[in-house]
Amino acid sequence: MHQAIIGAQWGDEGKGKVIDFLADKVDVVVRYQGGANAGHTVVVGKERFALHLIPSGILYGDKVCLIGDGVIVHPETLINELVDIKKRVKKTAKLLLSNKVQLVMPWHIIRDGIAGGAIGTTGRGIGPTYMDATGRRGIRVMDWLDKKKFEQRVKEEVIWNQKLIKLMGGPPAGEAGKARLNAKEITADYLQQLKKIKDLGVRIVDGSMMLWEADKKGQKILFEGAQATLLDIIHGDYPFVTSSHPTIGGMFIGTGFRPRKLTVTGVVKAYCTRVGNGPFPTELNDKTGEGMRERGHEFGTTTGRPRRCGWLDMEKLKYAVRINGLDQLAVTKLDILTGIKKLKVWVGKYKELPGWSEDITTITQFSNLPIN
Ligand code: IMO
Ligand code: MG
Repeated sequence: MHQAIIGAQWGDEGKGKVIDFLADKVDVVVRYQGGANAGHTVVVGKERFALHLIPSGILYGDKVCLIGDGVIVHPETLINELVDIKKRVKKTAKLLLSNKVQLVMPWHIIRDGIAGGAIGTTGRGIGPTYMDATGRRGIRVMDWLDKKKFEQRVKEEVIWNQKLIKLMGGPPAGEAGKARLNAKEITADYLQQLKKIKDLGVRIVDGSMMLWEADKKGQKILFEGAQATLLDIIHGDYPFVTSSHPTIGGMFIGTGFRPRKLTVTGVVKAYCTRVGNGPFPTELNDKTGEGMRERGHEFGTTTGRPRRCGWLDMEKLKYAVRINGLDQLAVTKLDILTGIKKLKVWVGKYKELPGWSEDITTITQFSNLPIN
């Protein structure tokens, strides 16, 4: 049976932890959408890893990790992440990169910096990269491999983006604005990064073929979702969404592979958080919300922003179950609610439930949890 992990809320549900738990039981771990906007925290022993682009399976020496067709990659971020992991992990998984992956280019990050404010994006160039991909002017890994073509495409895109950025009101203040658009420099940087990526042992492959063959050999695949259902470009709270498909459909598109047997697990926090702007019906702007933020360490892994916190929203969860056809739920961070006397859940109106005060952090059996 293959496994898929999907965020059932607005992200940061603890997908990294669940993926890490399941990774041990599979052969291949594949990311299929999003980019370095994801932040999956995995704790192994005393080491804490914040993974943004690389599938969480990378920490296991006997696995294969694939950055699948639907992901977008900023090469420098990939290199930094991999170098850091290799420093701290003795034997990492084999890392493969699909040749259909779209590259995040410097102009995408600049444009995200100018236009992403209203949504409160992560500033990683996500929207503009997917925009250019669907606009059929993106640059893919397979173009990167062809030096002449790459050089030509960068030249064309720099001319276009200089005009576009001017029209958008010029470069933003801060980091993104510092990036200059010089076609020669960008080409040289990216080609050097390609070499570095290859030197680090990353293999560029036909992703869908690789998965198909792994499946034929009887290997087990874990599909690692990033972001979450309510951030889906179609099924989320449009326009306060990301630009990819974190729902189950994105998995088939983003890998080019349709598993015959699949368990789809939704990851859900025992309360809700949201980072960035947009609707959040059960948001708490009071001491209870602050308590959740503090006890739950609810600060963005990618941007460090404080996360908005609130009660569990069952209506939204039911929606996530339906949209993704979830087979099961993994509930995380129950312990953060310990000590709250009266818990609320939203079911179309608030329902009050009695809380618990016992320390549950060391409980490993469901049946040992307090009845409440
Ligand atoms: P993981 O994988 C939580 C949010 C951003 C913003 C909106 C659009 O860790 O669950 P983008 O940069 O994607 O264009 O921003 O989506 N967002 C996330 N929120 N967890 C994430 O990933 C997120 N990835 C994007 O805060 O509101
Ligand atoms: Mg996260």
